[in-house]
Amino acid sequence: MSGEFLNLTVSLSTVAFIGVNIGTSLSDMPNPTQVVALLKAQQIRHVRLYDADRAMLLALANTGIRVTVSVPNDQLLGIGQSNATAANWVSRNILSHVPATNITSIAVGSEVLSTLSNAAPILVSAMKYIHSALVASNLDSQIKVSTPHSSSIILDSFPPSQAFFNRTWDPVMVPLLKFLQSTGSFLMLNVYPYYDYMESNGVIPLDYALFRPLPPNKEAVDPNTLLHYTNVFDAVVDSAYFAMSYLNFTNIPITVTESGWPSKGDSSEPDATPENANTYNSNLIRHVLNNTGTPKHPGIAVSTYIYELYNEDLRSGPVSEKNWGLFDANGVCRFIFYT
Ligand SMILES: *[C@@H]1O[C@H](CO)[C@@H](O)[C@H](O)[C@H]1NC(C)=O
Ligand SMILES: *[C@@H]1O[C@H](CO)[C@@H](O)[C@H](O)[C@H]1NC(C)=O
Ligand SMILES: *[C@@H]1O[C@H](CO)[C@@H](O)[C@H](O)[C@H]1NC(C)=O
Ligand SMILES: *[C@@H]1O[C@H](CO)[C@@H](O)[C@H](O)[C@H]1NC(C)=O
Ligand SMILES: *[C@@H]1O[C@H](CO)[C@@H](O)[C@H](O)[C@H]1NC(C)=O
Repeated sequence: MSGEFLNLTVSLSTVAFIGVNIGTSLSDMPNPTQVVALLKAQQIRHVRLYDADRAMLLALANTGIRVTVSVPNDQLLGIGQSNATAANWVSRNILSHVPATNITSIAVGSEVLSTLSNAAPILVSAMKYIHSALVASNLDSQIKVSTPHSSSIILDSFPPSQAFFNRTWDPVMVPLLKFLQSTGSFLMLNVYPYYDYMESNGVIPLDYALFRPLPPNKEAVDPNTLLHYTNVFDAVVDSAYFAMSYLNFTNIPITVTESGWPSKGDSSEPDATPENANTYNSNLIRHVLNNTGTPKHPGIAVSTYIYELYNEDLRSGPVSEKNWGLFDANGVCRFIFYT
């Protein structure tokens, strides 16, 4: 246990950051200059894009803002099947922007195992091809390659000590984790206590999902480790650490690529409110920036990107799906945020 802790400590920068995801499914999407003006005004220093939009990357140049770019799922098959296509993608979308734009990581696909299982067999190849193009340009120590996972691939996630990755994906997860370990990269995980709460049918208390104080007798205790959990976020992150250690990977850090709370929902989503969104996001920011870590790895940074900058009115699905944003298209805050 202590050896494992040390491994993580040395492989990690100890200061966690908060970033923000920038989805673009808005009918009145602000232009890149307006987006960057909002980021600067709000002192947002880390962002994740869902693609490698050229105009956006140009607007982010010389701002000091750290950028995670993405290979969209619809480009994944081509890249995973051809080293040359991958090299071409890196040349066009990365090499032409660094160092002016500070690209720090590449998210290869999004929730591929849970949403695009036909691409799963080539996911690790895609990551390796992208990585070797970075190596060829001497950018591999500066730009890390990973792929965001839905936490739904972690089964039996409570108690966290019993969690494991859905075995269907062992043939992908094992080489994937080997790749993350050997390249000094990190596991990207999307953590949505809102959905865990909604799907629990009352088992998970709202306070536990929102990081609100619980009476000590209401804290969730892992009977195997006796670790106390005061919020869903930590429990999910720890379930990912345990799922990795189940496969014998004990020194791969975690970055949460998406987390947030919707500020509006339909009649079946009564807890999607501005108050709850404000509470969740404010408490999340405080928790992450305090470097609290998790019960399994106290003090180990879990940097987190909030989902998301803008409400995306063009997204389909329930009302909540369009209301995860911190801001409306005019850059007006949707609720009193981080006070
Ligand atoms: C780019 O980001 C990295 C990682 O945060 C940082 O170490 C580096 O100083 C940044 N470079 C510039 C030019 O801002
Ligand atoms: C893939 O391309 C990179 C350059 O992008 C090169 O260094 C590497 O050797 C190639 N790998 C294979 C297996 O062809
Ligand atoms: C594991 O993943 C497979 C493939 O996506 C899926 O069919 C199965 O339902 C998952 N198992 C559980 C328990 O979620
Ligand atoms: C993990 O390591 C243990 C002890 O060396 C070994 O028994 C087990 O098979 C390994 N598990 C995997 C998934 O490699
Ligand atoms: C901040 O971290 C300290 C330990 O470093 C912990 O005692 C305290 O409870 C944390 N505060 C919050 C709000 O998480």
